Amino acid sequence: MIIIKTKNYEELSKKAADIIGSVVVLKPDAVLGLATGSTPVGTYKELIKGYEEGKLDFSKVKSVNLDEYKGLTGDHDQSYRYFMNTNLFNHVNIDKANTNVPSGIVEDGEAECERYNQLIKDLGGIDLQLLGIGGNAHIGFNEPCDEFVKGTHLVTLEEGTREANARFFASIDEVPTQAYTMGIQNIMSAKKILLLANGKAKAQAVYDTCFGPIKPQVPASILQLHEDCIVIADEDALSLCVEKGVL
Ligand code: PGA
Repeated sequence: MIIIKTKNYEELSKKAADIIGSVVVLKPDAVLGLATGSTPVGTYKELIKGYEEGKLDFSKVKSVNLDEYKGLTGDHDQSYRYFMNTNLFNHVNIDKANTNVPSGIVEDGEAECERYNQLIKDLGGIDLQLLGIGGNAHIGFNEPCDEFVKGTHLVTLEEGTREANARFFASIDEVPTQAYTMGIQNIMSAKKILLLANGKAKAQAVYDTCFGPIKPQVPASILQLHEDCIVIADEDALSLCVEKGVL
């Protein structure tokens, strides 16, 4: 695990976009595993800038997103498909037909999970997987639990996660109770992983992830076993690591 410390969110976003951009330059038809949430928004803005400046070409890039709420259509403004369109895809020259997000509206959840696992395989795997991290160290919607779940699966969201996301909905009652997420094996099979964390609220999760025991109760801790995992975190997110003297 390589840990890159940045002064602030802006520097974090620039560094993350540089790494993603380098993957696209080296492999124009790269498969990017993408993430939603507030953390990657700045990174996407930097990637858009790179495209506008003529440095990045997404015309052959393919993407697979980590997760999606079950029950939301792609045009619902809180669906992760909508998030990706508005925060990245609408602003670069990626072919939307090459972008993939689990479908929130397929009734048969198991079939949708199988389809998504097969899709990732058919694409030849993920070249770079971008990740945010939850305050409870979840990645995607892999919440703390008693075992690591391998493939794409349907999860019942923790109350804390629903509460954290309620700010985006009219009320907490509108936050879906279930979501599709890539599993730990889907994520760990990516050739390169880039985890981003900013702010004090992530300090415990970052410490546990990078320096704690590897256990499913800290889902992101499994990333310690990945051969090419880069963590970019700002000073606040790394504050506990510094306090504990491990950085
Ligand atoms: P955030 O969410 O980027 O909005 O903090 C991260 C996550 O829950 O994965």
